[in-house]
Amino acid sequence: MNKDVEKILFSQEQICERIKELGAQITKDYAGKKLVLLGVLKGCYVFLADLARNIDLDVEIQFLTASSYGFSSVSSGKVNVNEAIDFEIKGRDIMLIEDILDTGVTLTALRAMVLKQKPASLKTCTLLDKPERREMQFTADYTGFVCPNEFVIGYGLDFGERYRNLPYVGSLKKEIYE
Ligand code: PRP
Repeated sequence: MNKDVEKILFSQEQICERIKELGAQITKDYAGKKLVLLGVLKGCYVFLADLARNIDLDVEIQFLTASSYGFSSVSSGKVNVNEAIDFEIKGRDIMLIEDILDTGVTLTALRAMVLKQKPASLKTCTLLDKPERREMQFTADYTGFVCPNEFVIGYGLDFGERYRNLPYVGSLKKEIYE
């Protein structure tokens, strides 16, 4: 285990199992359809790679970059979308993919942005959900795990751009982020 990790919250094996279940559910729910997985960078990159390989559908992968935390551990409450969407959304089935749903600010803003372009459908999928932290009411359509209100890192999640490569989700030791 990484020396800065306090505790492993979701192991590599648990995540792998849960993603298989999510992939099977999505495959069933979208049977016969084409699905656009729209990943919210950077945190989603590991989850999306694994989830996509567990979905047995005609899938298109797209990304956008959104950021609200920067190098701080506190949400700024403002979402920066760094690139304009440069692919067709109108009339297509879109699923936003996130590593974590926290205050709900990011997904609320992105959902509104995507809906403006009139998709056939829009759903959201997050690996982790921290309901205790919610500031804007938001429920994801697909959730991997409900997560305790701790500083989580690994499996795509960072602190100051570090730890994204850990193969599990863990809590970060207080002395590292305080
Ligand atoms: C994280 C995460 C979500 C967002 C969720 O992104 O990836 O996009 O915060 O938080 P919210 O529900 O409070 O809006 P972050 O800004 O840390 O950027 P990153 O994905 O590049 O790490």
